[in-house]
Amino acid sequence: MTSFTHLFYTMNFYSDETYISWLDQLAENDYVIIDDFISEELFGMISTYFEKRLNENDLAKAGIGALGGYTVDKQIRGDYVYWLDESKDNALQPFFNQMNELVVKIKRFCFLSISDLECHLAYYPKGSFYKKHIDQFKERNNRILSFVLYLNPDWKPEHEGELIIYKENDAVKVSPIKSRLILFKSAGLEHEVALTFNERLSLTGWMLNNPVGLGFL
Ligand code: OGA
Ligand code: MN
Repeated sequence: MTSFTHLFYTMNFYSDETYISWLDQLAENDYVIIDDFISEELFGMISTYFEKRLNENDLAKAGIGALGGYTVDKQIRGDYVYWLDESKDNALQPFFNQMNELVVKIKRFCFLSISDLECHLAYYPKGSFYKKHIDQFKERNNRILSFVLYLNPDWKPEHEGELIIYKENDAVKVSPIKSRLILFKSAGLEHEVALTFNERLSLTGWMLNNPVGLGFL
């Protein structure tokens, strides 16, 4: 197989109607859940890469905030992250291609100006959580949409560790099952990661309306 056909078969392609139906749900409910967003092959590629980063101890304790307010607090979040860089993490190119395609459709159908993506692998050890929060920083409000791609092949209800989304008087529980993508509005939507009774893997990111670097000027 040449690398072109390899990349081609790794990516799931969706019709504009499909994108529009997802984006309608996002507009109406502030979030949308897309099951089987990625192909089996892409799931395998991301999982292999994730395992390598874990084995090489490349993940770091996640912090809270941006700019001078950045702190690490285990009482708030207990995950470990590895920030991805499209120009360096080449093994994940098919993933970036698929997200970039989603961004193109969001710009076209939602008239949002998204100019950049930032994303990381996230590893929650057993017994960790992320307390209720919103994804926009006080110091930097350029996160427009958040996404989480879950990478847990054998998730069971007793593992808990759900994403809980708070909407008005509702709490919606989303299980972190393999290849499920959730996309939600970064501003205003409170959410948390419930205490997890199993290791919990995800690829989490944000669509930004300013280049990443500007937040740090
Ligand atoms: C985050 C977050 C949710 C999840 O990293 O900001 O809220 O389900 N993650 O992993
Ligand atoms: Mn969050």
